[in-house]
Amino acid sequence: MDELRVAGAKAAAIMADHLADDGDRPVWQPVPAGERAWLSGQNLPDTGRPLDELLEDVRAHVLPYPMGNGHPRFFGWVNSPPNPAGVVVEPLAAALNPSCAGGDHAGPHLERAVVRWLADLVGFPHPPGGGLLTSGASMATIICLASARRRAALADGWDAREEGLSGHPPMVMYVTDEGHSCLHKAAQLLGLGARHVRAVPVDDAYRMDVGALRAMVSEDRAAGLRPFCVAGSAGTVNSGAVDPLNEIADVAAEHGLWFHVDGAYGALGVLADGAAPHYAGMERADSLAMDPHKWLGVPVGCGCALLRDASAARTAFSLVPSYLVDDNAGDLGWFAEYGPEQTRPFRALKTWATMSHLGRAGIKRLVDHTSGLARTLADMVAESGDFELLTPVTTSITAFRHIPREDGLDALNRAIPGAVQARGNAFLTGTRLGGRDALRACFLHPDTTERDLAILLDEIRLAAKTL
Ligand SMILES: Cc1ncc(COP(=O)(O)O)c(C=O)c1O
Repeated sequence: MDELRVAGAKAAAIMADHLADDGDRPVWQPVPAGERAWLSGQNLPDTGRPLDELLEDVRAHVLPYPMGNGHPRFFGWVNSPPNPAGVVVEPLAAALNPSCAGGDHAGPHLERAVVRWLADLVGFPHPPGGGLLTSGASMATIICLASARRRAALADGWDAREEGLSGHPPMVMYVTDEGHSCLHKAAQLLGLGARHVRAVPVDDAYRMDVGALRAMVSEDRAAGLRPFCVAGSAGTVNSGAVDPLNEIADVAAEHGLWFHVDGAYGALGVLADGAAPHYAGMERADSLAMDPHKWLGVPVGCGCALLRDASAARTAFSLVPSYLVDDNAGDLGWFAEYGPEQTRPFRALKTWATMSHLGRAGIKRLVDHTSGLARTLADMVAESGDFELLTPVTTSITAFRHIPREDGLDALNRAIPGAVQARGNAFLTGTRLGGRDALRACFLHPDTTERDLAILLDEIRLAAKTL
């Protein structure tokens, strides 16, 4: 174990150097061909290698080529830097190496607390057992929609787990085009059929048009289909828009639909000063998907499914063979009964550490700071002569485009993200919004400053000149 002690200390030092350094490195750089070959082409060694050598390899070949999300000028997709408390406990979770499927050990107990904290933080009702940690929001969404499907079938007097879906009216789900692809993937995986996911139109601010939703549900019902679920977004990935959740909840109540909210990225935005009215109605959802590995900064691999009815996911997933029966499990049973995963990693430790380290005040400060940056960038864009803002800022995403000339703006804005990334001084990604190619900057890093925003706009201008 001396080797472990020495290597552990060395790993801690490498980790601290890596995290301390991030601001001085390129935000991102392509992996050179030789390094790519080293990373992907190596053979399994015939004999084992010492820990120290492995750490040297990691230092030389892995750490120099990060995705970039540790850097304060990384504004791509929705990827945060890791919170140091989450980082520091990761090896301890690995050292303990439990399966948090269930049982009487620290992991499942801590998961109960963390899930409750997440629900409390965003004001979602939390009956004991009403949620679980997942690999990410995609998995959380599968759990929530499977629960919805199960409930709808039972309400109609049949059992989707037993019978499968054939022979029953197709179930229909409603989501805007701004809804995340994971909603579509989940619907397809659950056998609902892509054609039964309706694209509800959006208003000028990319929020669900609830009048249109109401009409579509009535039409589908009249046509003999089975509307069963509406999925609202609490922070879309394109622009950070929050759907009118209260009005959607009304339609769900009128028509007996399951109301799911995708808060993977944006649910935490409810904490920002003045933001709560945008989120009114989120607490009325049947299920809420959150992603602690986004805005909170929990190291990657932690989503959360929250359910208003604690038994909903259990009835959709519980299947306990004789070799897993635990007579001491208590009323809530095992976490593995609430989703598709059996062996489950100790996600709660890094989530607990991150949330405890920040505290409620620190989490709010992070959300306020990053939301403020998005608004400041929007102001800078609006005041500039060569950028235009595409939608008001609701969370911590600014959607905009560069307009240095009259023609070819779609092609230009489509090419800008790659050109900016290649320069290494900032990282942003693009999208299409309202039929136009757009730029979007997502703010999640606690150390990003207003100066970084000015650098971003300059980097876009410089990159555009080369295109
Ligand atoms: C709004 C939104 N929903 C869902 C997801 C899917 O989450 P995950 O990647 O954790 O599965 C994302 C990921 O970026 C997202 O931004």
